[in-house]
Amino acid sequence: MCGIIGYIGPQSTVEVLLGGLKRLEYRGYDSAGIATAHDGTLHVLRSQGKLDNLERQVGSRPMEGHYGLGHTRWATHGRPNEENAHPHRDCTKTLVVVHNGIIENYLDLKSRLSAEGHRFVTETDTEVIAHLLEKHFRSDLEQAVMETLKELDGVFAFATLSARQPDTLVGARNGPPLVVGLGEGESFLASDIPAFLSHTRSVMYLDDGEVAVLTPDGLRLVSHEGKEIKREPARITWDPIQVEKQGYKHFMLKEINEQPRAVRDTLLGRYSLDTGRIHLDETGLDDDSLKRTRKISLIACGTSWHAALVGKFLIENIARIPVEVDIASEFRYRNPILGPDDLVVGISQSGETADTLAALKATRDRGVTTLAICNVLGSMATRICTGTLYTHAGPEIGVASTKSFTTQLVALYLLAFKLAQIRGHLSPEESQNVLAEIARAAHVMEQTLLLAETLEGIAREFHLASNFLYLARGPLYPIALEGALKLKELSYIHAEGYPAGEMKHGPIALIDGRMPVVVLALTGLLFEKTANNIQEAKARGARIIAFATEGDRRLEQILDEDRDHLVFLPEHPELISPLIAVVPLQLLAYHISVARGCDVDQPRNLAKSVTVE
Ligand code: AGP
Repeated sequence: MCGIIGYIGPQSTVEVLLGGLKRLEYRGYDSAGIATAHDGTLHVLRSQGKLDNLERQVGSRPMEGHYGLGHTRWATHGRPNEENAHPHRDCTKTLVVVHNGIIENYLDLKSRLSAEGHRFVTETDTEVIAHLLEKHFRSDLEQAVMETLKELDGVFAFATLSARQPDTLVGARNGPPLVVGLGEGESFLASDIPAFLSHTRSVMYLDDGEVAVLTPDGLRLVSHEGKEIKREPARITWDPIQVEKQGYKHFMLKEINEQPRAVRDTLLGRYSLDTGRIHLDETGLDDDSLKRTRKISLIACGTSWHAALVGKFLIENIARIPVEVDIASEFRYRNPILGPDDLVVGISQSGETADTLAALKATRDRGVTTLAICNVLGSMATRICTGTLYTHAGPEIGVASTKSFTTQLVALYLLAFKLAQIRGHLSPEESQNVLAEIARAAHVMEQTLLLAETLEGIAREFHLASNFLYLARGPLYPIALEGALKLKELSYIHAEGYPAGEMKHGPIALIDGRMPVVVLALTGLLFEKTANNIQEAKARGARIIAFATEGDRRLEQILDEDRDHLVFLPEHPELISPLIAVVPLQLLAYHISVARGCDVDQPRNLAKSVTVE
């Protein structure tokens, strides 16, 4: 939700800022803006809508300066128009601020500052920061930030630049991420690493309660109380090329196709087929504490929550430990019963989803062991939790999660196997068998990706439908939910995912001749029961798009060649079906979205990282 970029250095600041914003646009695209400091003056350009609009403005009004800030907005307070676009200014117009998050006491601050004579010109909560900085600025921006921080409530990250001290950028974090990039004679400040990945891989994450002061002499880190902090930069292994489209029409399509690689990378070095052993030492969770675990809670949002639902099947079936699954925004407010031998696992691609973080913090504060399953090195979730199991999906730019989902599943398989081994539910021989099955997943995915053309054809046929129903059973039920979510967010078609057996308890009333019903009816996995549900849907006129396993032709007897579709997924072990079955549903949603002319990588109203409640 909102992306921040700041730059100090010899390069063209405007180019660096625009390049950074391009990489951060996944965080919000309601408006964009930049500010540079030059010759004692601040130059500000802002535009409603996507970054292209701002780029056009910059083309006609070039800006100079070696210090600058940029912002891409996902609107919370105030309409998504130019007036509310960041950077925001104080009354003197000598200071700008860009912000990600929410200032919860902004109404109180606004009335107090207004009474003191400050003039507000936007509907945003951010503007109070600019006026507070103005009020507290004597001769030093850092000191003004420190004073301002004392008055702000909420979760926020912000960065500021002043014409009165133009060689200094100051950023502060209290919730949403801020990361510093350290280059040769230049420094960056951003909400996420891809913003400056093409310039440097040397990074330093700010923790909550920290302030970064960037000057031409380098970086100073201090706590909100002013205490100096020493920290070594980390080196990021992500390659700048990974954040390019590499010839694909959309990031999402590239990321769907990257899944076999991402799955292989997430498995790499974590198991041995020879011994059947799983190596998860990196999580820092020792075997004794895992052995003592009495209950596991999986908490997440959105697509990551769907991964958690699959995780419940895996862990309960394989490791025989009771698992609860919660949507993080519910968990954090429901006073869950947690014991000292529980393990709470937060699943988050970004590691910065506000609800997941709040749930993990509350759990940690109760002394319960926490594990993050996360894709972003050093992100907040990894800092809160006792341990982290990283997915190695690489940067995911498309707003719709794809490779992050399948790699989360891989992490959950590994966790389930590890727990099962420690608790004596998987012998070395059985381990070797299940590991051999999971090791095949990437190859089966590659074969599944060959269905793209078939799915494009089906998409063309159904792209004007208004409603879709997705049905499946067991561990594929969460995949039905995920397929429906992908379709909703990408194409704006209403879609519902349901356990197939639940259809007759309500959703069947929705079915008529215009309703496509997508069914995952893979071999095993209660095939016969699902086939019955297909019959029930067909009896009410539904058109079926069924996915079955290669070699299993039983559905041909039920389906009509001229109305329905039967798509065969490559033959594979039942254990890995969730990993395989999601791929065609991602492709179906993608192609329907393209056929409808929707913005695949940046669907309306969405942002990739939801850093507010
Ligand atoms: C789904 O395509 C979305 N990207 C969204 O549901 C996402 O999974 C959710 O916001 C959670 O994000 P996280 O994994 O970064 O915590």
